[in-house]
Amino acid sequence: MTTALLPLSKRAAWKALRSHARRVKALHLRDLFAKDPKRGDRLTVEAVGLTLDYSKNRVTDETMKLLVSLAKESGLRPRINAMFQGKKINVTEKRAVLHVALRAPQGTSIVVDGKNVVPEVHAVLDRMAAFSNRVRNGGWKGHTGKRIRNVVNIGIGGSDLGPVMAYEALRHYSERSMTFRFVSNVDGTDFAEAVRELDAAETLFIVSSKTFTTLETLTNAESARAWCLERLGGDPKAVARHFVAVSTNAGKVAAFGIDTANMFGFWDWVGGRYSMTSAIGLSTMLAIGPENFRSMLDGFHAMDEHFRTAPFEKNLPVLMGLLAVWYSDFFDAQTVAVLPYEQYLKRFPAYLQQLAMESNGKHVTLDGTRVQADTSPIYWGEPGTNGQHSFYQLIHQGTRLIPCDFIAFLETLNPLGSHHDILMANVFAQTEALAFGKTRDEVKAEGTPDGLVPHRVFEGNRPSNTILAERLTPASLGALVALYEHSVFTQGTVWGVDSFDQWGVELGKVLAQRIIPELEAREEPVLAHDSSTNAMIRRYRNAKKRRT
Ligand code: F6P
Repeated sequence: MTTALLPLSKRAAWKALRSHARRVKALHLRDLFAKDPKRGDRLTVEAVGLTLDYSKNRVTDETMKLLVSLAKESGLRPRINAMFQGKKINVTEKRAVLHVALRAPQGTSIVVDGKNVVPEVHAVLDRMAAFSNRVRNGGWKGHTGKRIRNVVNIGIGGSDLGPVMAYEALRHYSERSMTFRFVSNVDGTDFAEAVRELDAAETLFIVSSKTFTTLETLTNAESARAWCLERLGGDPKAVARHFVAVSTNAGKVAAFGIDTANMFGFWDWVGGRYSMTSAIGLSTMLAIGPENFRSMLDGFHAMDEHFRTAPFEKNLPVLMGLLAVWYSDFFDAQTVAVLPYEQYLKRFPAYLQQLAMESNGKHVTLDGTRVQADTSPIYWGEPGTNGQHSFYQLIHQGTRLIPCDFIAFLETLNPLGSHHDILMANVFAQTEALAFGKTRDEVKAEGTPDGLVPHRVFEGNRPSNTILAERLTPASLGALVALYEHSVFTQGTVWGVDSFDQWGVELGKVLAQRIIPELEAREEPVLAHDSSTNAMIRRYRNAKKRRT
């Protein structure tokens, strides 16, 4: 399907966008708003409880029309259909891409290799729910008969970032009598600090790894097992009460020593960074309970359906994806700032980094030829208002164009005096200041001394999206995450890359495996790296020697 597409630079919409962009660059948001008093309403779309105001972007109606044409010429519609139909669109790994099946309601059908996968998905969800209920109500006991009060998820990448982001985001809904920790880094500090004051008799480890071969996760899991056994009398039977696994690899789980009866499975058609709605979400379900988890899945599903069926002009993920392409490829913007004005979403930017950058950080298209445009922008961000007092200076007055996504909720989960009014006033003020700025004349009219005028000018014309939802709930979080998942898909489709593989992580992993024995060998190893790497290895070994 995709191979029949014209190369990006030959698509009519792409060519039209090139010359159109030159005209749009000369326009200022001040004038666009002045000429069209309804712009704010017109360029706002609502779906699934989310409102996207994209009016403060450097676009005209013509831009949006051309971007939508670009999506069509890039085969977005057939590609969406192919994904939802379970076609193997992850071509380099020959896999279907079906995270949407993870949130499909019971009774629906999504077929992979001739088999409807939805019943299997629900069978795992039911097992997760039964297990979560047992742990939450104290029915599941640890080795010494104590109930579980602490849950430690061990995983990295998609087996960590989704779970930790969701736990933080939905903390308000979590079982407060339980403690949840997340260990990802192979840096021993992560594990040591996570378990520091925990009682092993009350601690459950979830070893989360799609492949169950990931060095960091297995190293942490080994340390967790040693930590547990040391504190529980050394009986290996304790492992069955204190360790469960989430994986697609039953063989490796058993080899590690976890009873596969205590394993929650998923499938190769779930990419790691798209796995938070699979069994990888077990820690989330333990924290918020099966009902809340189901509402989160329903929020995802509603956005999936919106993405699948809504016309592109009104399709939130499509619009956001196309705007990211617009700035990345026609304005040379290198990054997108994601700015949640919601403290509970503090890990959302980190989660998005893997989602977007591992998906679309690619230099070749599906057929292996060099991609003709810049691919994934760098996603980054921090919650507001904190960022305002650190990096917003650059966004307002720096020389780089940083498109921003503001995310906020109309109602707070923690009403406290006028905090929420102040918070929301800042969201609105920031988008206004970025778009409209402050002219030289305005600055002068305030009586600013001439020498200071240039320093106090805000050029404006700095684009932003604002995403608003009623409240942060499991369902609205689901809709928000799915919005970004499908925005990333839209971007990847325009660039024609495989958004579902991640070969770029392999080389470093292989080289590390070569270096580990060189750091640990008793005898001085023969080093055959470059002079810089050789010197660092020697320096490390010498420091080790000095300590022994
Ligand atoms: O190294 C990258 C990666 O493969 C990610 O794509 C994945 O989310 C992460 O490692 C963890 O992999 P696993 O769940 O197999 O341990």
